[in-house]
Amino acid sequence: MKDSNFFTENNARHMWHPMGHPGAMQEHPPRVIVKAEGSSITDATGHTTVDGVGGLWCVNVGYSCQPIKDAIAEQVQVLPYYSSFAGTSNEPAIELSYELREMYAPDGMGRAFFTSGGSDAVETSLRLARQYQRIKGHSTRTKFLSLKKGYHGTHFGGASVNGNNRFRIGYEPLLPGCFHLPSPYPYRNPFNESDPEKLAQLCLAAAADEIAFQDPSTIAAFIMEPIQGAGGVIVPHESFMQGMRELCTQHGILMIADEVICGFGRTGDWSGSRHWGVKPDMMTMAKGITSGYFPFGACMLSEEVAEVFEKSDAAEGSIWHGYTYSAHPVGAAAALACLRETQRLKINENAAPRGTQLYEGMLGLMEKHDIVGDVRGGHGLMTGVELVTDRAAKTPASPEIMAQVANAAYEAGGMVRVGGNNVMMSPPLVITEAEIQTLINAMDAGLSAV
Ligand SMILES: Cc1ncc(COP(=O)(O)O)c(C=O)c1O
Repeated sequence: MKDSNFFTENNARHMWHPMGHPGAMQEHPPRVIVKAEGSSITDATGHTTVDGVGGLWCVNVGYSCQPIKDAIAEQVQVLPYYSSFAGTSNEPAIELSYELREMYAPDGMGRAFFTSGGSDAVETSLRLARQYQRIKGHSTRTKFLSLKKGYHGTHFGGASVNGNNRFRIGYEPLLPGCFHLPSPYPYRNPFNESDPEKLAQLCLAAAADEIAFQDPSTIAAFIMEPIQGAGGVIVPHESFMQGMRELCTQHGILMIADEVICGFGRTGDWSGSRHWGVKPDMMTMAKGITSGYFPFGACMLSEEVAEVFEKSDAAEGSIWHGYTYSAHPVGAAAALACLRETQRLKINENAAPRGTQLYEGMLGLMEKHDIVGDVRGGHGLMTGVELVTDRAAKTPASPEIMAQVANAAYEAGGMVRVGGNNVMMSPPLVITEAEIQTLINAMDAGLSAV
């Protein structure tokens, strides 16, 4: 074991980190997290905080889930790996596909295609959507629609449908044929409309207009997060996703619900789609599927979509897509154990009231701190706080201010995540009332520091 000086000296020297500047990381090395328990994490200096980020919106069952740890350890002993490319399979993956079908039958899902994470799941959904349209004889349906402010991972397909330009501009040109619709984001939108219901109608009208302009016969699929996460926790009005579902059905466009964050209880329901009363054609999942204990994801398909593939001839319907680690037996074992704990503990039933507590706590801080321009949440454990230096002009707080807030919150006992001028919180779904209060107090301290 290396000593702590080794880690301090070598931190960010030989490893590049996602979502940050490699030079800046060397100047301001990241915190080294050394252990975690329940909903708390401890860094190398011994400082312990409530993890308001849940790892990265993923550690739904918390850090102390012994059944997942045991399942991983046992599976590694029995079968650490085997391929699931056509011709071979493994028992945990078969059982997981059965369990997921049971869990997501109310959303209309019937099959699972396993991946190594969320970006892979999104990529899978986009590719299969095009193939579905070809099998149906609609080979001109190749385009994708998505929402501005959406986040769908970082592969070229997912980045192309992403709606935040900081994930796009350094990597352009992206995939042609991807078009972005206005986000139902009441705090900032081109319609200058702050009423969520009216805004939803305006966004739906803009979507209908874009579909007509593109011509529906050229559009393969529309992808959206039921609640936009990384874009700043943007909660659409309850009519929005249903309205998009109707538009998609009317025009033969597949609806992909990106459930990578919303799935497995975060919204208070088992999926974000169910939260809004919508049945999509596909769902992408990751994060909470193993609570982050093993990199794993899935693209789920409705019975109708699955049948189109299954009844097609081999030339058209064979899936020439997949990953070495698709249906990884250790990942599948982790997911199975995680699903059992997720359901046994009914973590969705804790997410709802704790999410309301966190949201109301942030609304309280908005009254106290002028720098808070907008607070979003109230639908499970995802809360966004948008910081502005001038409330009337909605001037986004600078990166320096954002870092100051997050650092002071951390010192006061709460780890939060910054994205642009938003502070985002997505703690483990097993978090307690007292721990949420710690997070609220930490945010109060963070906001008081600027
Ligand atoms: C909605 C959504 N889709 C896709 C992804 C990408 O998942 P991953 O980082 O596992 O590739 C994320 C990651 O945060 C996400 O929030």
